[in-house]
Amino acid sequence: TSLKIGLIPADGIGKEVIPAAKEAIIALGSDIPKPEFIDLVAGWECFTRTGVALPEETLESLKEECDCALFGSVSSPSRKVVGYSSPIVSLRKKLDLYANIRPVVSVAPEVGQKPSVDLVVVRENTECLYVKQEKLTDGKHGKEARATRVITEHASRKIGLMAFELANSRPRKHLTIIHKSNVLSITDGLFRETVRAVPSLPSISGKYDGVTIAEQLVDSAVYRLFREPEIFDVMVAPNLYGDILSDAAAALVGSLGLIPSINAGDKFVMGEPVHGSAPDIESKGIANPLASIRSAALMLRHLGYTKGADRLDVAVDRVIREGKVLTPDLKGTSTTKEVLHAVLGKL
Ligand code: NAI
Ligand code: MG
Repeated sequence: TSLKIGLIPADGIGKEVIPAAKEAIIALGSDIPKPEFIDLVAGWECFTRTGVALPEETLESLKEECDCALFGSVSSPSRKVVGYSSPIVSLRKKLDLYANIRPVVSVAPEVGQKPSVDLVVVRENTECLYVKQEKLTDGKHGKEARATRVITEHASRKIGLMAFELANSRPRKHLTIIHKSNVLSITDGLFRETVRAVPSLPSISGKYDGVTIAEQLVDSAVYRLFREPEIFDVMVAPNLYGDILSDAAAALVGSLGLIPSINAGDKFVMGEPVHGSAPDIESKGIANPLASIRSAALMLRHLGYTKGADRLDVAVDRVIREGKVLTPDLKGTSTTKEVLHAVLGKL
């Protein structure tokens, strides 16, 4: 049997880094089932060309043909454009990819990384303020804007389960629940209590007894992340806090070009470098491909192909540690292709 991988480079440097990840996957040979790649389109350029950002064929192929996918990056405009909505946000919803998982690991302090960072942010991916229910009205003293924040027991329990499972699989087995329930006692309160209750669910029956649980308010969590990142192992958070925390955590290890993620649901997984389309370096051939290669590793690991995933991670870590072949975001002078070849050499 083969492993059918949908490739959605989308916009900007996505078109440069996703092909690099593809090469790295191919180089794994028999450590994974024979990969079969399916090229798919989505994104801002696709929207300007066709009027749709996420074509129906792309969605169908992901649902019907693909076992997993890799997504590059989209160039979403900051202004409102009629008819456009970000395809990555739609994909997360339509494929029910309710968890966004982002490991942040330091492997080389000399490239601007804080020593001993080894944490994973598990972010709820479908609700909170990102349900995008916003309203503008005219008030007594001018305009008033309101947004609805949705937290459900159902989604909090699912993300909690994923976070406990992950924490339980790691050596330190430590989970920190991020919230602000001292202020938002109803919404964040529900998130906190639901996640806390996961180990006592009947279906769990003691499985997570070895996991230690801590809590941290989101603001002081950011503070502690910068002061003493080593205290964190797995962090679980509602959507907005998780979004901010995971970018903050990325800053600890030097470059956005290093940080992978997966969007995971019960039936599908999609790897995605956390960076955007980087218009400032687009088409220059110098985008860092390591975040995408690590995203491929994370996707394979989630699917249970541990050996292939480990090989990719070890190869990437060696290239970073040696520090000889790095792109300019890591103060190197190499190109995307040269970094890819360095990784292939280590494989
Ligand atoms: P960005 O991540 O594209 O770039 C921020 C900075 O990091 C830039 O200086 C860029 O050159 C650098 N950078 C990012 N990835 C890099 C890589 N692999 N190698 C070397 N340098 C890298 O974020 P920005 O500038 O805020 O957004 C640009 C566009 O990307 C926007 O249209 C935004 O909407 C979109 N975006 C898309 C995301 C996605 O597809 N999930 C996530 C974030 C932004
Ligand atoms: Mg973000």
